[in-house]
Amino acid sequence: MATLRERIDDIDERILELIGRRLEAARAIGRIKQQAGITVVDNRREGEIFKRLLSLKQEPLKTGSLYRIFRSIIGAGRSVQKQKSETDALPIYAVFGDPIGHSLSPVMHNSALAQAGLDGCYLACRVKDIAAAVNGIRGLGLGGASITIPHKITVMEYLDQVDSLAADIGAVNTVVNRQGVLHGYNTDCSGAVKALADKTVIDGHDVALVGAGGAARAIGFGIRQAGGGLTIINRTIEKGEKLASDLDCDFKPLSEIKELPYGIIVNATSVGMAPRDDRVPLDTDLLERKTVVMDSVYNPLKTRFLTQAANKGCTTIDGVAMFVNQGAVQFELWTDRKAPVDVMRRVVLDELATP
Ligand code: ATR
Repeated sequence: MATLRERIDDIDERILELIGRRLEAARAIGRIKQQAGITVVDNRREGEIFKRLLSLKQEPLKTGSLYRIFRSIIGAGRSVQKQKSETDALPIYAVFGDPIGHSLSPVMHNSALAQAGLDGCYLACRVKDIAAAVNGIRGLGLGGASITIPHKITVMEYLDQVDSLAADIGAVNTVVNRQGVLHGYNTDCSGAVKALADKTVIDGHDVALVGAGGAARAIGFGIRQAGGGLTIINRTIEKGEKLASDLDCDFKPLSEIKELPYGIIVNATSVGMAPRDDRVPLDTDLLERKTVVMDSVYNPLKTRFLTQAANKGCTTIDGVAMFVNQGAVQFELWTDRKAPVDVMRRVVLDELATP
């Protein structure tokens, strides 16, 4: 161990020396910018730096870590160029949920902000009291927040405005702070629809949606809006019937499923999620080859459900597609900038990859 520590000390010294040289170069550029009257922060150049670094990245460095490290180095460069950040205060975003420890939203959004060359920082907050947390958005002047389990429904009563789609769904997963007015949105819905629409046509096709919780509600609304003929399948009959009635669609109890004659099947339950990843939400022997199968579970990336569906010849869509799409819409709501979706997906896939 002593030898390894010596090696690390030696590497740290070399890194420090290289950072010093990088900052010297940045300072020289700063002087040129000053003479030419150009602002220090150059979003496009920063985006290009990250793109280049990504192409050079080697294992075992994770994509999210690369963004974290070089964001700090670029920040140090900006600071020797003697210009404060263009905004008064660093925009802060957060995800409120409980539990929150395993959320991939921070690494995804921080990397996206860095790639876009935007100031800002995204934190994970374990929130028990959502009313107090929403007041915190106002008090601290946060730019916005992601809302996750178990607060997606209760958060609505503390916001100033709720977008009509989110109100229809009955759940908010995104808060945007516009000059102190808090607006609620649901991006789970459009995220899921986009993930499906990227691989298949929803309009006019029969879609089975397994589950009747908050996730199913958002996805079901999206599918109905996109013109899909929807059937809810759920273990608990009352919950399934309630959602089917809200969405004006069919319902089938899970226990009575003997065939799956649907063009698209979506799992919106947590069945198959790690650590209990040996389970499947439906009898996969019933799957037909032409069916498109989407799972909203993204950990593991290849759920047993998707693996068995792929073995049957079905087209499969993993849960990361949905997760990244809903995050991309959040990013665009907060920043008014196009989300670097490819980077976001890469960061999330990298985090999910087994070491
Ligand atoms: P979320 O808001 O994330 O969707 P939820 O409200 O707890 O979470 O809903 C979870 C969904 O997964 C429900 O439809 C639940 O079925 P029930 O209505 O019967 O509870 C479904 N679910 C969870 N575990 C399940 C299991 N082992 N088998 C079948 N369905 C399950």
